[in-house]
Amino acid sequence: MPANTTNDTAAHDGAAATPDADVPTEATAPAEAEAPAEAVTPAEAVAPAEAVAPLLRGIAVLRRLTEADGGALSLSGLERATGLARSTVDRLTATLARMGYVRLDGRDVTLAPRLMELGNAYLAALRLPALLSSRADALADELDESVSLAVADRDGIRFIHQATRRRAMSLSFRIGDLLPAERTAPGPLFATEWTRSDWHRWHERRATDPKDRAFPAVPPREPGTPDEDFEHRTASAAADGWALDDQLIEPGLVALSVPVRDPRTGRVACVASVVSHTSRHTAPDLRASLLPRLRAAVATMEDDLRTAPPPHPGPPRAGLATWTGASKQELGREFVESLARGLTVLTAFGEGRSALTLTEVAKATGLARATARRALITYEHAGLVTPTPDRTFTLTPRVLSLGFPPLSRTSLPEIAQPHLTALANHVHESTSLAVLSDSGEEIQYTARASTARVLSARVTVGTRLPAHATALGRVLLALPEIRAQGYALVDEELEAGLRSVAVPVHDRTGRVVAAVSVAMHAARRTTAACEAEILPELSRTAGHIEADLRVAGRFVTVPPT
Ligand code: PHB
Repeated sequence: MPANTTNDTAAHDGAAATPDADVPTEATAPAEAEAPAEAVTPAEAVAPAEAVAPLLRGIAVLRRLTEADGGALSLSGLERATGLARSTVDRLTATLARMGYVRLDGRDVTLAPRLMELGNAYLAALRLPALLSSRADALADELDESVSLAVADRDGIRFIHQATRRRAMSLSFRIGDLLPAERTAPGPLFATEWTRSDWHRWHERRATDPKDRAFPAVPPREPGTPDEDFEHRTASAAADGWALDDQLIEPGLVALSVPVRDPRTGRVACVASVVSHTSRHTAPDLRASLLPRLRAAVATMEDDLRTAPPPHPGPPRAGLATWTGASKQELGREFVESLARGLTVLTAFGEGRSALTLTEVAKATGLARATARRALITYEHAGLVTPTPDRTFTLTPRVLSLGFPPLSRTSLPEIAQPHLTALANHVHESTSLAVLSDSGEEIQYTARASTARVLSARVTVGTRLPAHATALGRVLLALPEIRAQGYALVDEELEAGLRSVAVPVHDRTGRVVAAVSVAMHAARRTTAACEAEILPELSRTAGHIEADLRVAGRFVTVPPT
């Protein structure tokens, strides 16, 4: 898995040629977080005077967490990785936690699924995943190989969809991962549209970052890959209409790519790739055997783009400015309101809302025009937003660098765990998540949280029990009576003295994908008390899991186990 996660990125050693000015450190003054942007470091010195410093710092915190192993760092690790003062890190992370974008567990800061709403805003505005991902998935099924969709991100490529085969030797990148164009198959296809200044920037980046440290998702570049190679590959791609990656990233990994063109402009909208391994296909063999089928699939994708109905703008998310104001009231100094307000600007974008004027951004977020304007200036500086010639703003693929790659691999048990732990601590009983086995006859526990009063210790993650005998199983089997009632309560059926109550967990389409339960000593509460006291808390927990799942599952298939 190329999800290389060192913190050792270009931003730290200054190797990035692109204006990756995302680490506004505080070498000197631990500036008051709400103060206007002060040029306290080289990174901030180049920021426009109107940029919002706490917003830049919040972005830096999210990026460092995204690059970290498992999307988590300790507070002191974050302090080191960003160069920010500890008190600033504390306030920024408290604010992000309040927004549901990170979780604070003691001294550890972990990215939380809710953060995916930022990347979702970009992907929804782009529309390509909604229109094309089912074609990519069908092609992956047909070929039994991984298929991906990527867009250009300056002189890199960034994945916007992955239809991944689960098999050994199968490498795959994550949605949001950024790769250097020249080490990929899609790269030369995008480069056919590069201007002289794009090429200039690319040469400069290659010279200043010889190990590709600005691309933590790939292993370091081997020495001795001349710039001319990519120029030749680009010329061939222009002539052929396809391109190959013959183990440019790492040994064994091969890919074949074809551009998907925007029917209106004729320009490359995204690139579709079939990814394989040399144990199954050599690169020339991949082209010979799979190019016709990849081209046929791309032709249907281009048809889909041609015939797509106009986008449906959803309602803008109301009340965000009010929410940030209330949080400030409640948390005081610990809540960095300018960070929270700034981040809400990204969520103003979405399907049918891909290019917004300043007025539209202000209206969608409820922010004052001046506040929205400064946030947009900040994002433009950070490369997350670009202005268009007709005075609107659009999100860039770089928005996916705010947490999306690690979070796109979050499984349902991982989503549920913090909620199960919170519930167990709250009701002082053990809580569980379970799914139905393939046969439908058993349940399998996939996450658990227990309190000191351990009961039924023989149940651990992975344990299977007969579905019909358990509250979890009855909810999952959706017996008509249980479905109408919305929960199942099982009394001493499985084990003497054990009572448990369970409710279903639905995905964004309304399908029951799992169940959550609380198990307790029958002696401790009557059935009626269980229904009155435990059930509402359990339902609330299921609601929290469902809310996270709606965000996480919008453009990603969340693994159920
Ligand atoms: C992918 O993982 O989807 C991938 C990898 C390398 C490429 C193209 C696509 O050159």
